[in-house]
Amino acid sequence: MRPTEILSNEHKVIKKMLEITSEVCERISSNEAVNPGHLKDIVLFFKGFADACHHGKEEEILFRELTDSGFPKEGGPVGAMLAEHVMGRKLIAEMASAAEDFGDGKEDAGVRFLQNAQQYIGLLSDHIHKEDNILFAMADQKLTSEQQDRILQRFKSFEHDDMGVGTHEEFLKLVERLEQEYLKQKTT
Ligand SMILES: [Fe+2]
Ligand SMILES: [Fe+2]
Repeated sequence: MRPTEILSNEHKVIKKMLEITSEVCERISSNEAVNPGHLKDIVLFFKGFADACHHGKEEEILFRELTDSGFPKEGGPVGAMLAEHVMGRKLIAEMASAAEDFGDGKEDAGVRFLQNAQQYIGLLSDHIHKEDNILFAMADQKLTSEQQDRILQRFKSFEHDDMGVGTHEEFLKLVERLEQEYLKQKTT
């Protein structure tokens, strides 16, 4: 498997959580009761899986290999993706604070969560689309098989040393649990 395939597979998991978040937002906007713990779970996932683990692998490993191979650090597609990661982090921080306040019963917390979450959904959906269809295709063309092997090795040690054994699986379970709660009921 190529490194970009691993990242695209992670995009599928992130997109599922964006779908769940969109449904949560819909419930908030129609004043349905939403478990405050679920807002915290969503934030935990975007912080831990989407940002620390997935964007971590992109920034520390794939993008670094690309810039070492001649891709510009600023202004080009890598620079654009890095800037969007930074924007995403700001929105997650806002969502985190709104989720805390929602748990404490503060009145405007639901709306704050919803507004920031909707921006985050838009930003990340578009970001993922650009990576899957443009940047990763460029990376596949540019990187030699030695570079791809080296990236795969680094991904493995990143998962093991930086994220910790079992962390990835825990996040997948979290998505499944929330999917059951928010998406499965819609189709049955
Ligand atoms: Fe990214
Ligand atoms: Fe990505």
